[in-house]
Amino acid sequence: MKKTIAVLPGDGIGKEVAGGAVSVLQAIGERFGHQFTFTYGSIGGGAIDALGTPLPEETIELCKKSDAVLLGAVGGPKWETLPGHLRPEKGLLRIRKELNLYANLRPVSYYAATAENSPLRPEVIEGADMLVVRELTGGLYFGKPSERTKTDGEDAVVDTLFYKKSEIERIIRLAFELAEQRSKKVTSVDKANVLESSRVWRETAEEVAKDFPEVKLEHMLVDNAAMQLIKNPKHFDVLVTENMFGDILSDEASVLTGSLGMLPSASISSDGAHLYEPIHGSAPDIEGKNIANPVAMILSAAMMLRTSFGLEEEATAVEKAVEQVLESGSKTADIAKKGQPTVGTAEMIEEIKATILDNQAILNIMNCYS
Ligand code: NAD
Ligand code: IPM
Ligand code: MN
Repeated sequence: MKKTIAVLPGDGIGKEVAGGAVSVLQAIGERFGHQFTFTYGSIGGGAIDALGTPLPEETIELCKKSDAVLLGAVGGPKWETLPGHLRPEKGLLRIRKELNLYANLRPVSYYAATAENSPLRPEVIEGADMLVVRELTGGLYFGKPSERTKTDGEDAVVDTLFYKKSEIERIIRLAFELAEQRSKKVTSVDKANVLESSRVWRETAEEVAKDFPEVKLEHMLVDNAAMQLIKNPKHFDVLVTENMFGDILSDEASVLTGSLGMLPSASISSDGAHLYEPIHGSAPDIEGKNIANPVAMILSAAMMLRTSFGLEEEATAVEKAVEQVLESGSKTADIAKKGQPTVGTAEMIEEIKATILDNQAILNIMNCYS
């Protein structure tokens, strides 16, 4: 198979982990006989420094003509005081909108090898496996007006939470379709006791549910959901929610894997290239120290293999290699037990890559004797 992949490393640890996804994909190409071509584009703070904009037009064109996009992370203290429209994060929001990436799928699974690093008790997290389906191109992030203003002679400010009913319907429908392939349960999270948008969200979920008689629908208020995620994560199968609630709840859910550095995501479009990104940010506090966990980024590449290219065996090979390396005891500082030795970002990437290639060598030997 031949595929073109746009790589947008971005800022901070984004630059350190994006290379990891590329080298793992190169190993997959080598092992399974695929030709992946990588073309690099700029986004975020680096693009502001070089070109004066967080999302250059050529990056948008590159993404649109590629088969899939890999993104590291954007942002950092250097750009924090810029006006909103010039911030690195604006580049990320705009590429999501330009590519029509309306759904962000964030799987959260229990890992035996990192369980002891979670602050949650083993019996609470063991076997937890959920998928957060986050709406990605609407809600408070994109509503107009969003501006500083004046009211009664005073400084004031407004952000707008806006959704078209069709935008609510398509994300909830996708959640039901995904639940059909999983444990057939959708938890729709909202704030329907306060927000009109949430009441429409809830009504829409009820309407969509009629088309999926095998899937159980429950509604949960977001404040309760934040608590239940920690108290009883195994309660959840597919959790669907609007943009900002999904952003917050998925960082919270990462705690059951032991680290934010473990969680991948796929940002899905209805009509073009999908984008794959870890859920974490540019982590300025650990930038440049070779200690960032590359697993979230590498597992995002596995999601790309499965979702964009239909390469199930290859995706599983990446996931298995990650698990094998973690089980062998090689861990970055965020997932290592206190006092245990750690490996650096680059070493972790090399080990995962070598495991992918070694597993093939072992398979070849076994085939010789079978
Ligand atoms: P963050 O996700 O960058 O970091 C939060 C905490 O998690 C930090 O302590 C960090 O060291 C740790 N962490 C994150 N990823 C890790 C990894 N792979 N390995 C080990 N530890 C990891 O969030 P923040 O500090 O609130 O934000 C920093 C910048 O990143 C901000 O500018 C923010 O806007 C941006 N951001 C970007 C994205 C993105 O590009 N998708 C996502 C979130 C935040
Ligand atoms: C994420 C990030 C982004 C978001 C920011 C950087 C715009 O937190 O991808 O989760 O809020 O969507
Ligand atoms: Mn976030």
